[in-house]
Amino acid sequence: MKKKKTVLITGASSGIGFFLAKEFAMNYYDLVIVSKDKENLKNAKDSLSKLANVEMFARDLTIKENIDNLYKFIKLKKIDIDVLVNNAGFGTYGPFNETSLEKELDMIQLNISAIVHLTKLITNDMIIKGNGKILNVSSTAAFQPGPNMAVYFATKSFILSFSSALTVELKPHNIQVTALCPGPTKTNFILKSEHCGETRIFKNLLSPQRVAKEGFEALENNEMVHVVGSKNKLLSILPKFSPIKMSTKISNYYLTKIDHKNS
Ligand SMILES: NC(=O)c1ccc[n+]([C@@H]2O[C@H](COP(=O)([O-])OP(=O)(O)OC[C@H]3O[C@@H](n4cnc5c(N)ncnc54)[C@H](OP(=O)(O)O)[C@@H]3O)[C@@H](O)[C@H]2O)c1
Repeated sequence: MKKKKTVLITGASSGIGFFLAKEFAMNYYDLVIVSKDKENLKNAKDSLSKLANVEMFARDLTIKENIDNLYKFIKLKKIDIDVLVNNAGFGTYGPFNETSLEKELDMIQLNISAIVHLTKLITNDMIIKGNGKILNVSSTAAFQPGPNMAVYFATKSFILSFSSALTVELKPHNIQVTALCPGPTKTNFILKSEHCGETRIFKNLLSPQRVAKEGFEALENNEMVHVVGSKNKLLSILPKFSPIKMSTKISNYYLTKIDHKNS
């Protein structure tokens, strides 16, 4: 019988991460699911356990030591990670001079540092093994700057750049790296990101199920970058053909709260 593979997914308690976990479980993978809130993660585990063997690790990944502890946890349990999904992330919304510095530094820690740290640890094992797959959840935010979400958009650009470089670097080691770039998606992200839902950009939302399905398939098909949705694909190409000043102005329009009195 074929040996089951194991995927480690961060941010698997809700939204895109939860449906990615479900997608992998339905495709004969065992799961290691990670997120911050223990109760939410336990609920996800209970639901996913109907489809696969599930280990859970509930810790705040903005804390550096918790990444090392996660790695120790999988070593202690003798779990061999075949696929790593770096999905946990959050955003903030509002003028830069009004948003919380503490929250933004935590965001950089989770959206950037945690990904680099965990990828470094897992990649070293994959290189020794001679194979592996990594799915990094970026965003269409990666393709242009985002006024009112300046730090978040920059973190997603980092992920796209980092991921694409690793795609090329790790290919000789038989490790596939894919960046998944969804457009706005109906998840808790919008509630957690200080009402960014009141902007034009968050009016047409993808379903997290669709994003997860396309993400899983993109990794299976060895795609380097996958943008979800045909309109989003077009919008992700436009900044390449326009000066940065123009793409930032367009992005500003979509990221400004809709003034219902004057619209
Ligand atoms: N929704 C969108 O419009 C959209 C579009 C493009 C890309 N994305 C990206 O998609 C990814 C998933 O977000 P989502 O939309 O599915 O939102 P979500 O439903 O809020 O999911 C975020 C996940 O990350 C976990 N998480 C948050 N902070 C954490 C921390 N400090 N330590 C460990 N885990 C933490 C959450 O767990 P807890 O509940 O325990 O905090 C949750 O499982 C993010 O990287 C986001 O940037 C989202």
